[in-house]
Amino acid sequence: MKMKRMFVWVAAVVMCGCMVELSASGQTSAHAVDAEGHQWWQHAVFYEIYPRSFADSNNDGVGDLKGITSKLDYLKDLGVDAIWITPCFPSPQVDFGYDVSDYENIDPMYGTLADFDELASDARKRNIRIILDFVVNHSSDQHPWFLDSKSSRTSAHRDWYMWHDGKGSGQPPNNWTSEFGGSAWKFDAATNQYYYHFFYAEQPDLNWHNPAVKNAMFDVTRWWYDRGVSGFRLDAVDTLFEDPKLRDNPDQPGTNAYGDPIQNRIYNTKLPEVHDVLRGLRQVADKSGAVLIGETWTKDVSELRQYYGDHSDELQMPMDLMFTKLNFSAPVFREHMAAVDGAGGWPVYVISNHDIVRSSDRYGDGEHNDQIAKVMAALYLTLRGTPIMYYGEEIGMKTTPPTRKEEVKDPIGQTGWPKEKGRDGERTPMQWDDSNNAGFSTASTTWLPVAADYTAKNVKAEEGDPNSLLNWHKQLIAMRKNNPTLRDGKMEMLDRNNPSVLSYVRAGVAGQPAMVVALNFTAEPQTITLDPRTAGVSGDTVHTLLTNASSLDHQSSLADITLPPYASWIGSLK
Ligand code: GLC
Repeated sequence: MKMKRMFVWVAAVVMCGCMVELSASGQTSAHAVDAEGHQWWQHAVFYEIYPRSFADSNNDGVGDLKGITSKLDYLKDLGVDAIWITPCFPSPQVDFGYDVSDYENIDPMYGTLADFDELASDARKRNIRIILDFVVNHSSDQHPWFLDSKSSRTSAHRDWYMWHDGKGSGQPPNNWTSEFGGSAWKFDAATNQYYYHFFYAEQPDLNWHNPAVKNAMFDVTRWWYDRGVSGFRLDAVDTLFEDPKLRDNPDQPGTNAYGDPIQNRIYNTKLPEVHDVLRGLRQVADKSGAVLIGETWTKDVSELRQYYGDHSDELQMPMDLMFTKLNFSAPVFREHMAAVDGAGGWPVYVISNHDIVRSSDRYGDGEHNDQIAKVMAALYLTLRGTPIMYYGEEIGMKTTPPTRKEEVKDPIGQTGWPKEKGRDGERTPMQWDDSNNAGFSTASTTWLPVAADYTAKNVKAEEGDPNSLLNWHKQLIAMRKNNPTLRDGKMEMLDRNNPSVLSYVRAGVAGQPAMVVALNFTAEPQTITLDPRTAGVSGDTVHTLLTNASSLDHQSSLADITLPPYASWIGSLK
């Protein structure tokens, strides 16, 4: 069945939940709350930018800050409220910026602090906030702190990192392995000790037991808040603390892509001390009304809950990264959404990022990827919670992994080849148009090759196609912004035993009607009957707000709704 997109606007755009407190710049004040008691970040759509790959203003083949500035109108038009820029600080770029050698500057490859200020000011004019990526677990081995730390056993910064004697000649202090392969300990002949690195050896772990480290790192956040940053995404928070006794991790059966034994990392990840640090960072953030987003890879919802803090005094936005591991299945998402929604904190849904296979390939079946991407967009943009998009998601960019080891840029792809191909595939340049290098850069070569499908899959082409994934995202985001029920209304699952269709109701708020959402996860038409009364919401008739199935344009009954394959339908209850 041919799917035709149809969009019915809400008769009147209801500007409800108004943020009343406006700052001098015209941007809503960081502390303002709406009628529901919600803050700006609870209603914002966040968008992750990998700056190397977004837009290249000086045509050296690598993206930069001025490139991002040049695309602010695009982001505004899409409906983005906050951009999270992955690390753009001075760095030897061993881990493409996640090895920071100066926390309070901009890498010349990306521009200058003046370029950052210009980006921040131009973004502010468009009511777009800037979130930076704070690499809290480790610095670069070229950071002056580490260079000093390494210089002698008695240096001022020696205890800023984790130095230990080996167990015996040529033997590291314990069996801990690096996430990126090999031992997590590197021997330094000059001082005859080992230092600890959870990631690459060029990323030595900071010693968070040392109050001086804590003070210095807290000051970094103050420095950026004073420069107008609205918050941080905290990198790798799980790995901040290690067992002071350095006990060996228990081995588990099997080896990983690097040939290392698989370990149960009970002694070097997720130690409880991290919560003290998060509380401290939050206190600093609160003074500036800033938001903290966590890279929280949790195994279940109860672990996720802990990151909000017992008194909601830790991360405002721990990311639900479990979302990225789910199979494309209505029952799987139903169970997950209900659990996260009930976890007690404000949910933060992440569909993709720079470390994992792109969502188009993860959820797609290879045959209906674009249709499936529309279902996923309708899902994560109509949930109660804050969505975080990844650049290129909105046009359905695919993962394009390297085909030969010689092409690999990400060192983990070089170490782990061919089992682990690295993360280059999800970091390819943004596809703006069908010109050379997809309009990303006019350089003769770009740092990673542009994906081959760019001539058809690009922003310009999708802007001109009313049925495109890009326009679908714009419509969903616009609807979300103009609809207090979608932003704030309580969520309850409907038709809970349906194996094919995920449906839920959002209770009306601020005098606005309740809404129902139904998503067909299958390649066959599905007929459903919804009864929102099971969720304590009244309303017998419905009015279509947005659908990509023209047959549902005038749906007025909640009984016998036939959703074409992969159709999404959002209706307002009467
Ligand atoms: C985080 C980042 C990843 C990086 C790692 C080490 O997981 O998202 O890209 O390699 O931390 O900083």
